[in-house]
Amino acid sequence: MKSRDNLDVAEIGAAFRSALAAGMIREEDTSVIFYDLRFLEERIRYLGSCFPPGTLHAFAIKANPLRKIMDFVRETNPGSGVEAASLGEVTMALKAGYPPANIVFDSPVKTAGEIEFALQTGINLNIDNLSELARVAHHIPEPAGSVGIRINPQVGIGTIAGSSVAGNYSKFGVPVKYQRAALEEAFTTYPWLTGVHLHVGSQGCSVGMLTEGVGILYDFVLEMNEKRRRTGLPPISVFDTGGGLPVAYHPGSCPASMEVYAAAISERAPLLFDPDHFRLITEFGRWIYTNPGWTVSRVEYVKQDPGIKTAMLHTGADLFLRECLNPKDWSHEYSVFDKSGNPKTGLDDLPYNLAGPLCFSGDIIARHVSLPKVDEGDFLVIHDTGGYTFSMWSRYNSRQTPRIAGYRGDQFEIIRERETLDELHAFWE
Ligand SMILES: Cc1ncc(COP(=O)(O)O)c(C=O)c1O
Repeated sequence: MKSRDNLDVAEIGAAFRSALAAGMIREEDTSVIFYDLRFLEERIRYLGSCFPPGTLHAFAIKANPLRKIMDFVRETNPGSGVEAASLGEVTMALKAGYPPANIVFDSPVKTAGEIEFALQTGINLNIDNLSELARVAHHIPEPAGSVGIRINPQVGIGTIAGSSVAGNYSKFGVPVKYQRAALEEAFTTYPWLTGVHLHVGSQGCSVGMLTEGVGILYDFVLEMNEKRRRTGLPPISVFDTGGGLPVAYHPGSCPASMEVYAAAISERAPLLFDPDHFRLITEFGRWIYTNPGWTVSRVEYVKQDPGIKTAMLHTGADLFLRECLNPKDWSHEYSVFDKSGNPKTGLDDLPYNLAGPLCFSGDIIARHVSLPKVDEGDFLVIHDTGGYTFSMWSRYNSRQTPRIAGYRGDQFEIIRERETLDELHAFWE
């Protein structure tokens, strides 16, 4: 089984024309987010085919917390779970009906109350640091779910510093080189400490780096299990590899496939693929959600300045925070369609800035982009927007959140309706 990298312009164009014909983009829908549900399903199934049966694929809610998308993912892979980074995400998952054993709780800043809740509920708790370990030890010995510790394998920083978390310094986890003695002491003391967790980074980390992180922890776990065996403690049996496999935002970027990554793990750490030894957990987010999603915004105005045009859009830093604040690391492909949905071709004489509606000068999702001539009333499509976009929505300037729709061929369904003004007001009241 395979999964392609992206939707191409022709596929998006066809879906966009169907959306117009189906009335999915009404006058008030100045921007809409779409998900190709067949492609999303393909991603989920392909992921399952790369790892051994019994692997818990705990999808990172932070990448996409939409309830209907969560439900869709679980219908496609009923044994899947979620990785939650906050009490809010944990309770969303419980409310959505995930069994506690399929929920992984990873926040780096948990209150004593949240720890107690996690231990009682039976979700998988990953302790972030040694102070948290002491707090958990205080509540044990009766955790209802598994308890692990997040270990920083210290394999270095990828191409995007802001989303790399396994440098020598990281705010996450217990650094394996600096705190080895304390980790050893913990694992040879606590019978209930039966899990390990790592996450190297999100986008920008090669398969080599990701696999090296897993390998470092694997060697450590085998050594600890030998010591635990000698002292009669149960083995470490939960191994959570985190997420992080990069996706293609641009043609030619050719990220490694999931199959290649899974094969690299199984070669470096073979027992992880043996369910008699480990419950393997993954926490992919970006790789699942990003490429099946795209966003369309009506172009309200086009301004011209010396050497540059500016397309004024209805989506900016509210949806594309990282792109606006850190354009060097985060960018997309763009397509232009006229108001009937016909693709525009050729290149205009001047490049474009794609500016959003928010009240700050940095609200520009892309600068100096070569595009076909853009006119008022055209539609600009931003590709690969299904992950880490709506989940990072900014309330600045109180714009209404856009309509979100899913489709299979020319059949559309609303995933989340455009926010009403009353709902918006309620947020601030
Ligand atoms: C602990 C943890 N797990 C999983 C993920 C998901 O990473 P990705 O979306 O790159 O797969 C993240 C992302 O930041 C994370 O912090």
